[in-house]
Amino acid sequence: MNDRSGPGGTLLETERLRLRPWRVEEAAIHRELWTERDPRVPAHRRIDADGRPSLADLENWIRWAARTSGDGLGLPALERKSEGDVIGYCGLVEGGPGAYALDPERPGPEIAFELLRRAQGRGYATEAALAVEQWAREARIERLHATVWAWNAPSLRVLGKLGFVTTRTLTSEGGHGDMLVTTKVLRPLTT
Ligand SMILES: CC(C)(COP(=O)(O)OP(=O)(O)OC[C@H]1O[C@@H](n2cnc3c(N)ncnc32)[C@H](O)[C@@H]1OP(=O)(O)O)[C@@H](O)C(=O)NCCC(=O)NCCS
Repeated sequence: MNDRSGPGGTLLETERLRLRPWRVEEAAIHRELWTERDPRVPAHRRIDADGRPSLADLENWIRWAARTSGDGLGLPALERKSEGDVIGYCGLVEGGPGAYALDPERPGPEIAFELLRRAQGRGYATEAALAVEQWAREARIERLHATVWAWNAPSLRVLGKLGFVTTRTLTSEGGHGDMLVTTKVLRPLTT
């Protein structure tokens, strides 16, 4: 458990959302996110022909994330305060592909978010991402990156609303289109 977590494991709170660690019994929600992914997403990020990742795989991922989160934010679940349901995640991943391509010496964290389709289009991703950005500022992180497929208009829109700008275009070899690396500077870079 993150030392900075509040009551009930809450890591961050917004007007409508609680960002808190995933619970093992919520693996099915996580799997639903996998099943809903756009067919243009590379195969290793979608459910394979054998049904993997299975529910058990994702339960193990949740256990692993709880053990390894340390003081980092990880990818917390988004719980709606009013409904009490989990609708996706938003957080930070270390050593993501975009940040690494941009600066292998200091890759920095990437912001990542994903919502169940039934919860999309209501400003939740933007609301959660703003809280994650604030967390990053308080953690004195200098830059945030996000890697996004060029075809992913909703995600680009969220990042645009947050003030991320495209800093690199990576051409994928798997026929998935261009991947954009976007960046937001949070504080002056130290040398
Ligand atoms: C990207 C994602 C997290 C956005 O979640 P969300 O809660 O719907 O986002 P928000 O409601 O905060 O903002 C979405 C914005 O995109 C806009 N948008 C939605 N579909 C769009 C489209 N096809 N073209 C252009 N803009 C679009 C919305 O109008 C909104 O902008 P607005 O506030 O100016 O109206 C969600 O679409 C998702 O989970 N997608 C699948 C996973 C994914 O792509 N994750 C990101 C990987 S980089």
